Amino acid sequence: MRIGILTSGGDCPGLNAVIRGFGKYAFENIKNVELIGIADGYGGLIRGECREMRKSDFTGILTLGGTILGTSRQPFKLMTVEDENSVSRLDLMKRNYKKMGLDCLLTLGGAGTHKTAALLSAEGCNVIGLPKTIDNDIWGTDVTFGFHTAVDIATECIDRIHTTAASHGRTMLVEIMGNKAGWLTLYAGLAGGADVILLPEIPFSPEKVAKAVAKRADSGKAFSIVAIAEGAMTVEESKMKKKERAAARGNDVTATNALARYIAEKADVETRVVIPGHIQRGGSPSAYDRVLSTMFGSYAGKLAEQGKFGVTVALVNGKVTYNALSEIAGKAKLVPTDCQEVLTAESIGIALGR
Ligand code: F6P
Repeated sequence: MRIGILTSGGDCPGLNAVIRGFGKYAFENIKNVELIGIADGYGGLIRGECREMRKSDFTGILTLGGTILGTSRQPFKLMTVEDENSVSRLDLMKRNYKKMGLDCLLTLGGAGTHKTAALLSAEGCNVIGLPKTIDNDIWGTDVTFGFHTAVDIATECIDRIHTTAASHGRTMLVEIMGNKAGWLTLYAGLAGGADVILLPEIPFSPEKVAKAVAKRADSGKAFSIVAIAEGAMTVEESKMKKKERAAARGNDVTATNALARYIAEKADVETRVVIPGHIQRGGSPSAYDRVLSTMFGSYAGKLAEQGKFGVTVALVNGKVTYNALSEIAGKAKLVPTDCQEVLTAESIGIALGR
């Protein structure tokens, strides 16, 4: 059995741990298995760039951040666009899948990767997906690998900001990744003891946020921590189309700077903005993600062994299982506005700006 492996989209801690779990399972359990590493995600499949992997490729990488295979972003909407010779990227991928002699393709990636994986599967390729992303927004799985490591990193950022905010009596806004999902901000905000948590799923009133900060200042707490998701938006912005919102923000890509200026003026406090950015995706996976990734990778090996294709690995109620790619592709798992974590935050006085 010849199996291709690719990692696609934004990287995250745990990719190599999944590759290792899969490789070790495959060499241990599947007769005459050949593993083919595809370079830079779907980019390598489009270009036909791959190499045979040996047993030694799968050792010593459990704790390694990033991906040994390389990755790239290949927008789903461009997959079926034809070039001047009427050939699409999808055509090239299907052609190279055959040329590489693959019996199965393993795709480690986020929401976009899963959409392309579902398309390849519908076009006759044998695909097994694995849910990767610090955003934790893949439908049908309790958690994605990489998420908890990013929570740990973002939490540490907030912890460190806490001490300097307290020393100076400042309001610090920490902008956290997560794209359109607020999971990372919600978890890091709760874990880091943020006073305000702002999520894309709950448009905020700047006035309410400033009031929450002023209330703390009035009660003698000179500093405040605002954990704000990169996708957070004001109530007013939430009514705008994407382009309109971008125009209204001018040079600011996110809502963070404008909110910092607003709080400074209305609550009469000193504010600072901190953007940890890609640090949240870097470095070694946490112990939790090492275990999850190993379980996900080895389970994908079992699926390949059994010839179970057109699926993606998932954790459902604490058990590793799978979902049909066709059922989860294109759906996003966002933070429900009344989930237990959100209600817990509000119940202890954390302001959500609503
Ligand atoms: O999907 C992971 C993620 O880190 C998001 O949280 C973020 O919005 C995006 O990727 C950043 O993308 P890039 O690495 O292309 O700058």
